[in-house]
Amino acid sequence: MRLRLCIVGCGSYARTVLNDIHDLGDELELYFASREIEKAKRYCDEFSGAGYFGSYEEAFADPRVDAVYCFTPHHLHLENALAAASGSKHILMEKPIARTVAESTEMIDAARAAGVKLMVAENYRFLPTVEKCKQLLSQGTIGDLRLIQIQAEGFREPTEWRTSVESSGGGVLIDGGIHYVDLLHHLGGFPRQVFAARPPQVHRSAEGEDGMVLTAVFAGGAVGLISLSSATVGQASQWVKVTGTKGQLGFTPYDSRLTIDTPPLRRTVNLPPARRGVRGMVREFRQAILDDRDPAMSGEEGLRDLEIVLAAYRSAEQGVSVSPGSR
Ligand SMILES: NC(=O)c1ccc[n+]([C@@H]2O[C@H](COP(=O)([O-])OP(=O)(O)OC[C@H]3O[C@@H](n4cnc5c(N)ncnc54)[C@H](OP(=O)(O)O)[C@@H]3O)[C@@H](O)[C@H]2O)c1
Repeated sequence: MRLRLCIVGCGSYARTVLNDIHDLGDELELYFASREIEKAKRYCDEFSGAGYFGSYEEAFADPRVDAVYCFTPHHLHLENALAAASGSKHILMEKPIARTVAESTEMIDAARAAGVKLMVAENYRFLPTVEKCKQLLSQGTIGDLRLIQIQAEGFREPTEWRTSVESSGGGVLIDGGIHYVDLLHHLGGFPRQVFAARPPQVHRSAEGEDGMVLTAVFAGGAVGLISLSSATVGQASQWVKVTGTKGQLGFTPYDSRLTIDTPPLRRTVNLPPARRGVRGMVREFRQAILDDRDPAMSGEEGLRDLEIVLAAYRSAEQGVSVSPGSR
């Protein structure tokens, strides 16, 4: 069965994803919705779509559409999800699920009441490096987990809606940073404690933070560390190192290689091309609908990631450690 999937919001990341999924013609029939009909038509022509709409509401109401994939700013995620659910459309929502716990819970409840699937488009879960790392960890290849270290630094000044806390929900942590939070959560479990601190701000145009250092303590005692910055002048860097009692794993998320260092052996595993993980992610969304089961990255999982982000915000503001999920 081809899933009749409507892209909602024809912006820059929608285009990036479409470049990786538009050829899944046996599995997807694509539709496009934009506030500007000309833009929807342009995307439809470019990515061989089956139809287009000049408003989101038309897409949510159209019987040709089974599901929507929303690429809108964060302050619209709740509104879009509620409208999609009331039109009985399954929902694939870009990260973060929403700005607050209350918004996320309302979305999850609305999807459940409408009998539609809600998945958060957390593509990192579907990256070959991350899948391999998770598999090796559960096989005990590096022994018991001790430490997950993630470094993600670069220089990028936010523009448009990303400069506003009202529309983005925060700064770089709730935006690109939530991918690394999800990595910690996925590999280490839900942390029982988070401590975070914010380095001095460089991007004056941004209301939200342009960097965050976050430490997390997992239930078994292992520790996670994220050093995140969109204001690092000079060389950018992105790497993940997972250390256990018998060795360590190392990778760059979008790479096709992962290093296993278990002395005296050190080897590099070659993996399939990453393609941002979005092909596997969209396939999982479609399969969950066909199987009538929860998707791998459900709304609840997205909410757990958000709870870690919000705990980090509280910690950085108050200078204390915070238990994610506590109010
Ligand atoms: N997974 C990842 O790696 C990744 C990377 C980047 C972004 N994202 C996520 O994708 C989503 C979109 O981000 P983006 O970078 O594509 O943003 P963007 O380029 O600004 O696109 C957002 C689109 O939302 C629609 N929109 C509706 N109301 C709007 C408003 N009031 N202001 C601005 N746009 C409005 C517009 O589409 P129309 O004009 O067609 O209606 C716009 O093109 C966000 O949730 C973001 O966090 C994920």
